[in-house]
Amino acid sequence: MLRQLLVVGNWKMHGSRASVGALLADLVAAVPAVGPDVAICPTFVHLEQALQICDASPLAVGAQDCSHTNAGAYTGEVAAAMLADLGCHWVILGHSERRQYHGESDELVAAKVAAAVTAGLCPIVCVGETQEQREAGEAHSVVRSQLRGALQGQAQLTGLVVAYEPVWAIGTGLTATPQQAQDMHAFIRDCMSELDGVDATASRIVYGGSVKAGNAADLFAGPDIDGALVGGAALVANAFLAIINAAAA
Ligand code: PGA
Repeated sequence: MLRQLLVVGNWKMHGSRASVGALLADLVAAVPAVGPDVAICPTFVHLEQALQICDASPLAVGAQDCSHTNAGAYTGEVAAAMLADLGCHWVILGHSERRQYHGESDELVAAKVAAAVTAGLCPIVCVGETQEQREAGEAHSVVRSQLRGALQGQAQLTGLVVAYEPVWAIGTGLTATPQQAQDMHAFIRDCMSELDGVDATASRIVYGGSVKAGNAADLFAGPDIDGALVGGAALVANAFLAIINAAAA
């Protein structure tokens, strides 16, 4: 099965109106018309600006989180339907920084996935083990339980993407080797095939954790590695474009 590669930029809590405008102008001018699917996920406050600049370009726009509920007295939250209404296509859910700093549980991530799908957004569900868990030989069981926790029992998961992001590789300069990443991606696809409502063959599994121009091509060579979720390198136009071009090759 040929899956179209997907390269997503996770901008985290970075940017100003000026820097968002400049970075997107560079990306829109140079992103190849034929290549992988490409998306950028800025902060909530920069979404509308990003959507305007990316309109009629191959760049899709997504959010980095959404609420688990539709509307109501939830101060500070943003509903999935609001993001869809704005024109977002994607939403990153269960990122390890949300799990770590905001105490997000698998149950909460599952509720967010359900809310996103109901609103018509495509969720990018992040899973991944910490260094201690890997050293204790628990990497596979942790990832399987995060996947089941987020995806089991969901009504339908059209457009689902899973991002394997080993926590020890995020923002550290350490990357899983292509073999470590491929092994885990194949395992994730096996776990997904056990879940009702998930098309494991059609769903994309992207890798995240210190992806850059120099390691992207080797990662994309893995048959179960369907693209990348890119943090730091997505904030520099040339670095992000080099990763996109590695996926286009
Ligand atoms: P990084 O971040 O590329 O800076 O390691 C990836 C992510 O957290 O999505």
